[in-house]
Amino acid sequence: MSGRLEGKIACITGAGSGLGQAMALRFAEEGATVAAQDLSREAADETVRLLDGAGHHAFGGDVSNEEDMGTVFGQIYAAYGHLDIQVNNAGVARLPGDGFDEMMAGEGPQISLMSHAAFTKMLAVHIGGAFLCTREAVKLMGEGGSVVNLSSIAGLAGWGSIHYAAAKGAVLAFTRAAARELGAMGIRINAIAPGVIDTPMTARVDEALLAPMVGMTPLRRKGTAEEIAATALHLASDESSFTTGQWISPNGGLITI
Ligand SMILES: NC(=O)c1ccc[n+]([C@@H]2O[C@H](COP(=O)([O-])OP(=O)(O)OC[C@H]3O[C@@H](n4cnc5c(N)ncnc54)[C@H](O)[C@@H]3O)[C@@H](O)[C@H]2O)c1
Repeated sequence: MSGRLEGKIACITGAGSGLGQAMALRFAEEGATVAAQDLSREAADETVRLLDGAGHHAFGGDVSNEEDMGTVFGQIYAAYGHLDIQVNNAGVARLPGDGFDEMMAGEGPQISLMSHAAFTKMLAVHIGGAFLCTREAVKLMGEGGSVVNLSSIAGLAGWGSIHYAAAKGAVLAFTRAAARELGAMGIRINAIAPGVIDTPMTARVDEALLAPMVGMTPLRRKGTAEEIAATALHLASDESSFTTGQWISPNGGLITI
């Protein structure tokens, strides 16, 4: 039986860890050739080592850096000649100077403790990165191309820090507007807004902060990276061929709008 992504070329940013690595594994299982991109070239190399099949490549670079992404997509073009799937997954939840630790120490609300640099850097990574990678990816895509953006329940409902929620909310609006433009080219673009998922990102968060969210989740557990990879597979593949400009929130029922 052939896979659901047989013959497709898929670029996944942030593929060296967590959700991105799980997507790389699932997409390759389904027949895709994977361009695994990460800020850590070593982490991207490790993901490629885990993949079955030939033709997968690792790429380094910072998604918020225009020059880096110009180089990466130039290398993707040189390696494959085109692209079918782009997953804008790279991200961070915390940044130096974002005031989180001071807020936890009771020094005040995070908004009054956060530096402007931390706020703008968060936007640069998530929405700046989604913009740069989508812009470069669609140059290599034809009819049937699919872009998948990683938002969050933070972007849907304001859960999480203000810089992260602002960045993830922007990803949703970007997805809607880009869908209106890219539809004429036969390219779809959608977003995933996960709830609390068990990855290295959430492992870095104090369990005492996550426990109340998990307690309020009807399914009473964190999601797994494989469950988000399954949603990404649906949006990346032709089985969602009439879906664009939408978001799906695999969150165990925590947010039901
Ligand atoms: N884990 C969750 O609960 C959760 C929930 C909602 C949304 N998300 C989003 O899903 C995505 C993946 O999260 P994860 O949990 O797998 O995190 P993770 O920390 O396990 O992995 C993120 C990867 O992105 C890479 N990265 C970070 N900044 C980068 C940059 N500027 N350029 C290129 N690569 C960069 C990191 O090196 C890392 O390998 C993120 O966008 C995150 O915001 C995660």
